[in-house]
Amino acid sequence: MCGIVGYIGSNNIKDFLLEGLKELEYRGYDSAGIAVLQDSELSIFKAVGKLENLVRKTKDFHPQGFGVGIGHTRWATHGKPTELNAHPHMGEFSYVVHNGIIENYKEIKKELDAKFVSQTDTEVIVHLFEKNLEELQEPQKAFKATIDALKGAYAILLITKAAPGKIFFAKHGSPLIVGRNGEEIYFASSDAPLIGHAKEVHYLEDGQWGVAKAGSVRLFQDDEEITPEYKPLTLNKELAQKGGYRFFMEKEIYEQSDVITETMMGRLQEDHIEFEELDEDFIQGINQIKICACGTSYHAGLSGAYLLEKLARIPVTCEIASEFRYKDPVLTSDTLFIVISQSGETADTLEALKMAKNAGLKTLSICNVDNSSIVRLADRTILTRAGIEKGVASTKAFTTQVMVLWMLALYFAQLRQTLASEAVVAECKAMAHTPAALKVHSSMHERIRRLSKRYLHGHGFFFIGRDIFFPLALEGALKLKEISYLHAEGYPAGEMKHGPIALADPELFTIALMPRHLLYDKIKSNVEELSARDSTICAISPVEFELADDFIKTASYEHFMLEYYEMAVVLQLLAMEIAIRLGNDVDMPRNLAKSVTVE
Ligand code: G6P
Repeated sequence: MCGIVGYIGSNNIKDFLLEGLKELEYRGYDSAGIAVLQDSELSIFKAVGKLENLVRKTKDFHPQGFGVGIGHTRWATHGKPTELNAHPHMGEFSYVVHNGIIENYKEIKKELDAKFVSQTDTEVIVHLFEKNLEELQEPQKAFKATIDALKGAYAILLITKAAPGKIFFAKHGSPLIVGRNGEEIYFASSDAPLIGHAKEVHYLEDGQWGVAKAGSVRLFQDDEEITPEYKPLTLNKELAQKGGYRFFMEKEIYEQSDVITETMMGRLQEDHIEFEELDEDFIQGINQIKICACGTSYHAGLSGAYLLEKLARIPVTCEIASEFRYKDPVLTSDTLFIVISQSGETADTLEALKMAKNAGLKTLSICNVDNSSIVRLADRTILTRAGIEKGVASTKAFTTQVMVLWMLALYFAQLRQTLASEAVVAECKAMAHTPAALKVHSSMHERIRRLSKRYLHGHGFFFIGRDIFFPLALEGALKLKEISYLHAEGYPAGEMKHGPIALADPELFTIALMPRHLLYDKIKSNVEELSARDSTICAISPVEFELADDFIKTASYEHFMLEYYEMAVVLQLLAMEIAIRLGNDVDMPRNLAKSVTVE
């Protein structure tokens, strides 16, 4: 999750690059960098941390006249957030910025005889380009040969002293836009940096690449030259950042299907799980696991506990951090202590982690923000790679946390040999289908939008589920509470008869999670009991259920986790559509903060 910009022209090259990066900073701020080429004179600046550090570093740099420049703001995926890992990456005479992940970078690296200075996947692009140039003697051909060799997702901008005044560009899987205003040419990974600069823009499609110089853009679709389809540019920056969605929460719900691929990248293999963050030494001697977190992250933790026990047969407890820290817990040294946090700054979770460290436990954090306090303190960290989450109600952070936990459960299962190899392969196959399960289909969204109007009043909601669908029910209820301000509770379906069923009447809405592959008959009887007492039922299931007042049909997947993921999206959309109808600010709900850094 990074942002890139590029510029060809004579007007304030540095200002465009830095201001453009400022617009993209919300996508990542582990490090940033720019490279400017004027004739054959190169200036390159990189800085770790927020963009202001780069601004400070470049304060005495005042390029005048014509030049080409590229810039990047980074959200670390491969390699730590250091200056060496910051973009632009350099060859001997060429420079590249890249957004995405090059899946086959290790193979390419092996074939190159170049000196690598970073741990990134990106650096192979520039070395491969220079090697190809040596063989082909023509920069455009060398660039094409380079992108042909890449597998994965990328938006690339490359400049080279071998073709001064030009920017080579390519898109596959990651967004890239080229804009123009007279002789000036602009590039960016989203609209926002281009507003106020480019008059019209072409949104690149996958497989498009080309070369730009002052006043001209040559564009190719694979091997064929095509004409760019320029459109006038929108003028609203906030709208541009939201990518056309009404709220950041909506954008983030839609993004889940893509970001989960980044969570799995390099970790999910065809028949096993790999974590470069872990090793057998670290896992050695661990006989139980304790998970600690707050809010949505706690719900991910509860889900993880089910998965770890099911797959790896290891005892797991999961606790709310604010409870854990004051209960004088019994901690034993054979326990792996896992904290989960989107922000990495939640005060209670951080304190819980300190307690575990002080007690001598091995600690692991599952976190979305590299370099955060929790990441710095934990012995090991697995990053969720969800990209910056702006909506206060967490969505993509949750689904990526659960994915890390699912992969972790399988990783432990491999080491503890609790699953047959065919069962491990089956889990891997199911994981590979997660992006499809998380995809928002417009028909589904529209159905939920229409249905939401029936759920604006009444005296409360029960979200019910069994097994791992119980924590998902808790998360569904939390989403609704957070942004609609309606009262909602998550409950284990089997427990309803021990009290809550006394509340059942037509004004009580029951949102029932009824997966095909996990205790379907059990949950069905629980829902029948509620229906018999006239509760209004909204069933979410792949199996038609005639007693439901409303029915949201989900796809028929073979694995319960794929049902879990699709239902997670349904619950997020339902909460959002209800909140929108009630006229609430979905991204900034009252009384809540994105990151709670006080007790
Ligand atoms: C706040 C946020 C929640 C989040 C919780 C834990 O309450 O509003 O969305 O789940 O903190 O945050 P963390 O960053 O530790 O996951």
